Amino acid sequence: MKILVTGGAGFIGSNYIQYMLEKYPNVTIVNLDLLTYAGNVANLAIVENDARYFFVKGDICDAKLVNDLVKDVDTIVHFAAESHVDRSIMDSSSFVHTNVVGTLTLLEAAKNNGNKRFHHVSTDEVFGSLGKNDPAFNESTPYDPRSPYSASKAGSDHLVRAYFHTHGLPITISNCSNNYGPYQFPEKLIPLFVSNLIDGKKVPIYGAGDNIRDWLHVRDHCSAIDRVVHEGKIGETYCVGGNAERTNMQITQIILTAMNMNDEMIEFVDDRKGHDKRYAIDNTKIKAELGWEPSVTFEEGITQTIHWYKENQKWWRDIKSGEYQEYYKKQYSV
Ligand code: NAD
Ligand code: TYD
Repeated sequence: MKILVTGGAGFIGSNYIQYMLEKYPNVTIVNLDLLTYAGNVANLAIVENDARYFFVKGDICDAKLVNDLVKDVDTIVHFAAESHVDRSIMDSSSFVHTNVVGTLTLLEAAKNNGNKRFHHVSTDEVFGSLGKNDPAFNESTPYDPRSPYSASKAGSDHLVRAYFHTHGLPITISNCSNNYGPYQFPEKLIPLFVSNLIDGKKVPIYGAGDNIRDWLHVRDHCSAIDRVVHEGKIGETYCVGGNAERTNMQITQIILTAMNMNDEMIEFVDDRKGHDKRYAIDNTKIKAELGWEPSVTFEEGITQTIHWYKENQKWWRDIKSGEYQEYYKKQYSV
């Protein structure tokens, strides 16, 4: 199995590469990543000398490069994206470029090189926002994206499906809920809050803290993707979630308690524009058809995750200081 992973220097992609190299002795992985602010080759320090792993710095929108790389692999697993909602509110253009044009560039290369197997990693945010008592999202939920981030991911999902229907490209899509775990960029809720508290800084809660997300440990997301790539039905979508809906205030309280701190460390700040109220996932299809379900409970996962950020302070301190962008230059002599 030779896989082109896009965006493998980011949070989920780097966990996925580690997972695949641990699980499959005969896998070869080519990681194509532009190393935007979110990309960090230090996430892959553990595998950088593994003979089965290759890193290519480049843009998924670069049609020639993408075509050359796709030629040599049998499967593409596509993570690369602009992924942070708050950034998409400030400037949407890079979201459309990478998430829509970049996905199209990869689809074209997959089609032009003998219809390569293509797995697209997407988000539950494409389905919009739920009320408190609404049923959870499933594969039939109509798309209703409400942020520039989720709108651009919805556009990419539609293109992936269009290449299946129009060109017979062998695709699958997974729409997953909020991930947490090691190597998550400390602009997202959990790593931001844990790293702030380690430094004695307050944590900014948007609005009243009553927005709800479903949380899945990143390793469980990796195992779900692996299952869909190997056993998923071509042309199908699979929703992936952690059965762990929590309000942002509940998450904050769990972190504060685990770190022996109290509500004095909370700072309520202005709400995010267009802040989606609730996401929730119904895992019935992936469980029934592929036998996948989350293996880590939220309580276990968050405890391990807080521990990881306490034990790996250099990793996130280098990001907060900007030093992480030097790592690539040192390791790759550029
Ligand atoms: P991330 O922001 O941590 O990583 C994105 C990676 O993509 C970075 O390494 C970045 O350098 C790379 N990248 C960005 N633009 C690129 C380009 N033009 N060419 C090549 N590489 C580029 O994101 P993440 O949290 O790891 O998310 C990965 C994927 O999973 C995304 O598609 C996201 O939509 C999806 N997803 C994320 C979550 C979550 O909770 N984080 C949940 C569901 C789905
Ligand atoms: P985030 O980690 O950005 O993921 P997403 O917006 O993709 O769900 O945010 C998770 C939730 O936490 C979301 O409801 C916004 C909220 N949030 C805060 O309250 N404060 C913060 O500083 C951040 C980054 C997020």
